[in-house]
Amino acid sequence: MDNPLNKTGKRDGALTVRRILKVNHAGEFGAIRIYGAQIWMARRLFPDIVPALCAMRDDEIEHCRLFRDAMPTRDAKPCRVMAFWSLGGYVLGFLTALGGRNMVWICTEAVESTVHRHLEDQLAFLETRDPQLHGLIASIQEEELAHLRKAEKNQTRRGVGHALLLPVVAALTDLMIWLSTWGDSSWMRAEMARSRRV
Ligand SMILES: [Fe+2]
Ligand SMILES: [Fe+2]
Repeated sequence: MDNPLNKTGKRDGALTVRRILKVNHAGEFGAIRIYGAQIWMARRLFPDIVPALCAMRDDEIEHCRLFRDAMPTRDAKPCRVMAFWSLGGYVLGFLTALGGRNMVWICTEAVESTVHRHLEDQLAFLETRDPQLHGLIASIQEEELAHLRKAEKNQTRRGVGHALLLPVVAALTDLMIWLSTWGDSSWMRAEMARSRRV
């Protein structure tokens, strides 16, 4: 595992950039799997939302490719536990789709709002350190925000299901990010919060 401390004892900015790319690439892969499972179920149970889910999955496929393409010049490598993201995403997508179309949209809202928060932290960190990656993430964030708005708009009701499922899915998404960065997302968040203050 990389040593997060450089020779001066400070956190290595380049390492943080590599971890940002790694987790974003894995997260996009997880999102593709969530939408994949939901599309599979929606085709059978509620085909009216299939086109919207397919359009969002197409965006995630493009995001995944863009993050993969940004890796080599920054010496970054894909996450070693992609199978974990794959399975986690698929199970989450499958279970929420079992709950019906409203659950699908609640899941999308929870995942996209968690992603949005992480991207905000990353943008603050990258602004001066890697303007090119900052630009890429800013454009991707716009599309994630459109997914979030679509999910909010399509919910026909916001009752107990929303109140119960939203925090659970958001916490699961945070946990996946935390685990796949070996706990580094916590210090990344603290570091990015610090960089916002300076
Ligand atoms: Fe995405
Ligand atoms: Fe998205």
